[in-house]
Amino acid sequence: MAWQVAEGRDMPLRIDVITLFPEAFRGVLESSILGRALREGRVEVVLANLRDFALDARGTVDDKPFGGGPGMVLMCEPAFRAVEHVQGLDPRRALVVLLTPQGERLTQARVRDLAGRQRLMLVCGHYEGFDERIRTLADLELSIGDYVLTGGEPAAMAVIDAVVRLLPGVLGAEDAASEESFNLAGLLEYPQYTRPREFRGMAVPEVLLSGNHAQIARWRAEQALERTRRRRADLAGEAPDEK
Ligand SMILES: C[S@@+](CC[C@H](N)C(=O)[O-])C[C@H]1O[C@@H](n2cnc3c(N)ncnc32)[C@H](O)[C@@H]1O
Repeated sequence: MAWQVAEGRDMPLRIDVITLFPEAFRGVLESSILGRALREGRVEVVLANLRDFALDARGTVDDKPFGGGPGMVLMCEPAFRAVEHVQGLDPRRALVVLLTPQGERLTQARVRDLAGRQRLMLVCGHYEGFDERIRTLADLELSIGDYVLTGGEPAAMAVIDAVVRLLPGVLGAEDAASEESFNLAGLLEYPQYTRPREFRGMAVPEVLLSGNHAQIARWRAEQALERTRRRRADLAGEAPDEK
């Protein structure tokens, strides 16, 4: 099952994050499923402040771009020092992931791949971005979508969240992840309902109340395919239906 991808590891996944704003991660890492996974030791997240690796006492990490232009650019030296130092904190070599809108777009397949690793290092940019030479530090450049954030922190949080929920024991119901969007043969998830049976004239489909598990499974498979065709023809590999 998809949620078991990381089975067989002898140590919990370690995720290092290099960021100018470690405090931004607090709420996300303390709350809900992520918070519980961390407390139970199913994953380790270690935050490093890029500013601690500045060359001067003022903690300078950025400078004006050569050739002119707006904004400030993260400098090479602090980033190289940070990545090299953090890499040495654990004998397992981390896969270095640079968060950038220019990277590979994050997919559930990539999330599964990351969840199967022993160690990840997420490097967050800020301001106008980073000196191009910082890219040479990365094993992988990842984007969370075709839009621009002010910094890599929300992107790193999205990666952490998506990865951690695939680790063994993190989700309560064993197959909660394997039944959802992108895991069901790459399709979107079928529609879900809970009580009440009828709400403001909207009734739960009869088949879900029938107790016939074979019929329910068939209905869900059809719905997943139909929904994917309508909403994400790119996933279903077909042209969208006309509306
Ligand atoms: C304002 S952005 C810089 C964008 C840069 N000027 C460019 O056009 O590629 C600042 C930082 O936010 C992060 N970031 C912004 N959008 C992102 C996205 N879609 N996915 C991942 N990281 C993103 C990156 O770490 C980036 O270095």
